[in-house]
Amino acid sequence: MKLGFIGTGTITTAVIEGLIKSKAKVQQFNISQRSKKNSSYLKRKSGKVTVYSKNQEIIDRSSIVFISLLPKQVKQELQKLQFKKGQIIVSFVSTLNIKSAKKLCTPATTIIKAAPLPMAVDGLSPTIIYPNHKLIKGLFEKIGTVVVAQNENQNNHFWVMSSFMATYASIVQTLKKYLLKNKVKNEDANKYLNTFLTGMLFELNHKKFDLDKSTKSLQTKGGINEELLKRLTKDKFFTKLQNNLNKIYLRLKKANDK
Ligand SMILES: NC(=O)c1ccc[n+]([C@@H]2O[C@H](COP(=O)([O-])OP(=O)(O)OC[C@H]3O[C@@H](n4cnc5c(N)ncnc54)[C@H](OP(=O)(O)O)[C@@H]3O)[C@@H](O)[C@H]2O)c1
Repeated sequence: MKLGFIGTGTITTAVIEGLIKSKAKVQQFNISQRSKKNSSYLKRKSGKVTVYSKNQEIIDRSSIVFISLLPKQVKQELQKLQFKKGQIIVSFVSTLNIKSAKKLCTPATTIIKAAPLPMAVDGLSPTIIYPNHKLIKGLFEKIGTVVVAQNENQNNHFWVMSSFMATYASIVQTLKKYLLKNKVKNEDANKYLNTFLTGMLFELNHKKFDLDKSTKSLQTKGGINEELLKRLTKDKFFTKLQNNLNKIYLRLKKANDK
């Protein structure tokens, strides 16, 4: 497999580093120079990585091409490029629908949308793909798990989940800020929260992800877990989160329905 990546940003870097670590059977990683910091970093990681200044050179040398540009850059750049018949195109761009991608990448006809996440670097990306493709599914399984969306609408709903990463980090940051404000050392705050978050995941898994059961069992009657949950529910914290997830979905749907 000869993999080409148009755009060497955060997500390409995580995917390639994860694939290198996983020892997936990849012959070549053909990548763009931009961003220079990332392409130099990846070049140092493996002799299989070759850096090109022109995107066309990447396409010419790859059997699978990953599109990893920002939504606002993607159409303009793809219009300048010539793809090959039989090439597999994998787009990481949330707002580029399959119909438009097919037009832009003609004569290539196999277009897959995929949403790997930065955790790919540690083999822990839950990657959404649509439509299913055996080879691409197998590749992403090397760097985590794969969820195949059943249709474009479901694909949009799964992508909504991927919008939660920064909010998740920000919620943890709120907990950490609380500790720091109350004179806890940075090192101790990190130590506590790190094990807390990892342990919580194990706890949820023990209950087979039955979240009603976990929510119940993690509250002691009259205890502080019960109190915080009640307070946040009263403040409409969860309703607001749900409403805003719906808004992210509508944005994705609008872009993908075009
Ligand atoms: N980050 C995530 O967790 C994530 C998850 C799923 C999907 N995605 C999607 O994946 C895409 C990339 O996201 P990202 O987070 O990796 O963004 P990013 O870090 O900003 O990467 C975009 C890269 O494209 C490069 N670039 C811009 N124009 C180019 C051109 N004409 N030719 C070659 N390279 C060019 C940029 O280089 P310069 O810095 O030199 O401009 C930058 O390195 C986006 O569409 C995003 O929505 C991201």
